[in-house]
Amino acid sequence: MASLKWWETAVIYQIYPRSFQDSNGDGIGDLLGITSRLDYIAGLGVDAIWISPFFASPQKDFGYDVSDYCDIHHEYGTLVDFDHMIEAIHQRGMRLMVDIVPAHCSDQHLWFTESRQSRDNPKADWFHWVDPLDDGSAPTNWLSFFGGRAWSWEPRRQQYYLHNFLPSQPNLNHAHPEVQEAFRDIARFWFDRGVDGFRLDAVHTINADSAPYRNNLPKPDFVSGILPQQQQPFFRQLHDTAQLNQPAIQQFSESFRAVADGYDGDRFLMGELHGDDAVLASQTFTAEGRLHATYNFNLLEWGGLDVAGLRQAITDAVEAFNNSGRLVFAFSNHDVPRSVTRQLGALGLSSEHQDALQLLLLKLEVSLVGSSCIYQGEELALEDVQNIPVEKMRDPWGIEFAPNFAGRDSCRTPMVWQSDTPHGGFSDAEDIWLPQGEGHFARAALEQAATAESVYQQFSAFLHWRKSQPAMMQANYMTALSGTDGQIIFDRVSDTQRLRCCFDFDHLDASFEEA
Ligand code: NOJ
Ligand code: CA
Repeated sequence: MASLKWWETAVIYQIYPRSFQDSNGDGIGDLLGITSRLDYIAGLGVDAIWISPFFASPQKDFGYDVSDYCDIHHEYGTLVDFDHMIEAIHQRGMRLMVDIVPAHCSDQHLWFTESRQSRDNPKADWFHWVDPLDDGSAPTNWLSFFGGRAWSWEPRRQQYYLHNFLPSQPNLNHAHPEVQEAFRDIARFWFDRGVDGFRLDAVHTINADSAPYRNNLPKPDFVSGILPQQQQPFFRQLHDTAQLNQPAIQQFSESFRAVADGYDGDRFLMGELHGDDAVLASQTFTAEGRLHATYNFNLLEWGGLDVAGLRQAITDAVEAFNNSGRLVFAFSNHDVPRSVTRQLGALGLSSEHQDALQLLLLKLEVSLVGSSCIYQGEELALEDVQNIPVEKMRDPWGIEFAPNFAGRDSCRTPMVWQSDTPHGGFSDAEDIWLPQGEGHFARAALEQAATAESVYQQFSAFLHWRKSQPAMMQANYMTALSGTDGQIIFDRVSDTQRLRCCFDFDHLDASFEEA
């Protein structure tokens, strides 16, 4: 059997840089801070680190609004700090993935400040510009994911421009060859600096239909979820006919992949995407010569999943991607409430089960086929911080919808490293950018890492054991799920081993035996 690439079985640790470790007392995490905590991450036994965007940015969407893709945001450090960080990551045997945002840039990026000036400047066609209709309104019914219309008015050009998120995140036009070349240059810039892969943000939004733009259709079977974020009008439309997931995006994925293939060392491209039909979109994006894998959302369900829901979520993803290595699972990230909080709620469990449930979820995730992303703090069973007062909220999405929807600050609070130190050792500053979770002080990272039988230690032991299992490391195949209502059971199978993996949600226990 051919051996698998590193990214087919990787456990990837996601860092939200603003909240990991502050090194210079300004209350904001930074790259030097990350470098100082690498032993903690390496001690877990993960294979790679993905860091959310740290590029130059006005931080309107905390780095997902880039004003220079080839420089470091001043609050996070310098390119010299980056070079030291990547060297230190590689020295510890881990890989680094950086988070590129190809679909949109900041309205402060020189590309957009130039483009918005006139209809005939050199960057005039780098974004989606359209004339108003005769009645002055925007040409389509497209909505922004963060609320309101997806079109904003630019008086200098007397035209609308497209933004799928904030108005300060204008959508690039990747049908323009110069835009494609600009992103190939960006890929080369970071590959030359040694990065091992990219997490590509919101690739389904990279390019809209071309003019004349068509309206989105209403979603015929729309049922509003009970959570406020599920009630947004954005979800009432189908998007893949016109606004999102357009075939032109594949030119981007192919041209970006060609750059990756020009480098040695198996550079990895992982795309974040949604779609009216997410499986179809994932298959399209990972067809031959495109992205290596897509980031699967099935386990990230906002409301959490009961055992039947978990079985369905896993089955749907695995049926489409078994034996392919094109799948990345995640239970948590910087966009959704923390996994253990969601899952305690969905399973009807009290917080006394927090550690046991988190450990079970972590073991389940890394036992599935494909690779997996662990979000900072999952190894500590951190709960979501849900009581942040409105005046301390920072997420623009939450601020837009507060108090109905609190946004994403709840999972982005700064790490607590030591319980008896101001700000838990995160920062020497008087004020830090977001408040910390009170409950996180009882789960301080360095203390958990030094405590026998902590979630950190048990997960670390599990990751080391996993490396010795041929069925997990040498093949990317698993059987269909079986078990009683409270269990998820499957076999991982390689040429030399059949390993039965049993996750018992009644007793919050995982067991593994050779079958
Ligand atoms: C997905 C990212 O994960 C999220 O944090 C961001 O706000 C949007 N894409 C827009 O870039
Ligand atoms: Ca700092």
